[in-house]
Amino acid sequence: MPLRIDILTLFPEMFAPVLGTSIPKRAAEKGLVSYHLTQLRDFATDAHQSVDDKPFGGGPGMVMMCPVVFDAVERVEAQDARPATRILLTPQGRPFTQDLAEDFARRERLLLIAGHYEGFDQRITDGLRPVELSIGDYVLSGGELAAMVVIDAVVRLLPGAIGAEAGAADETFSEGLLEHPQYTRPREYRGMQVPEILLGGNHRAIADWRLEQRKIRTRQRRPDLWRRYAERHGEV
Ligand code: 6GU
Repeated sequence: MPLRIDILTLFPEMFAPVLGTSIPKRAAEKGLVSYHLTQLRDFATDAHQSVDDKPFGGGPGMVMMCPVVFDAVERVEAQDARPATRILLTPQGRPFTQDLAEDFARRERLLLIAGHYEGFDQRITDGLRPVELSIGDYVLSGGELAAMVVIDAVVRLLPGAIGAEAGAADETFSEGLLEHPQYTRPREYRGMQVPEILLGGNHRAIADWRLEQRKIRTRQRRPDLWRRYAERHGEV
């Protein structure tokens, strides 16, 4: 049974170019995943098709209304008997990581809820109990791009979605180190040389060099990742 991914959004048209390209497209063609887009505005309950309103207590911006989101979630979930892992995209959410992507890739159904410009009524999270996710410490105009980031990270982990070579490269990130520098033809470009060790064919020496480069990079660029790695591997 393919992974079913439901997406609830005010801008379903944003998703077609991403889901219809590259790995997300090929995974669907291979029957590993299916995508189901739902227009949240179809669940508006008033004559003006409102999906949001001014916040009680005042303040800027608009707030996504409960009835729209509850009704949409309930109707969409009833389209398939499998229980869905509910995910709400919000800058207030827990940081999205590779570990979470691996967790989601093992589920049978995901339901992503994206808002645009606005926040969500607190009762949406209190009542629907979604996993609240953020993709980083910056503000996007809406949850749609974040939802696409989550979908891409998950779908490429489905067995058969990408070749075995690329799959092995994922493990290296999961180990908690950044990637080593890569080089390809030509050997010299504008006076810049490929490191000699990569040209010699000594596979042991190359592996040692690459691991050392990964440690140096991680220490310099991501002290947060380095501390975790060092604790687990007994480095100073
Ligand atoms: Cl999930 N939503 C929005 N609107 N902005 C974000 C985000 C999500 N993650 C980082 N910034």
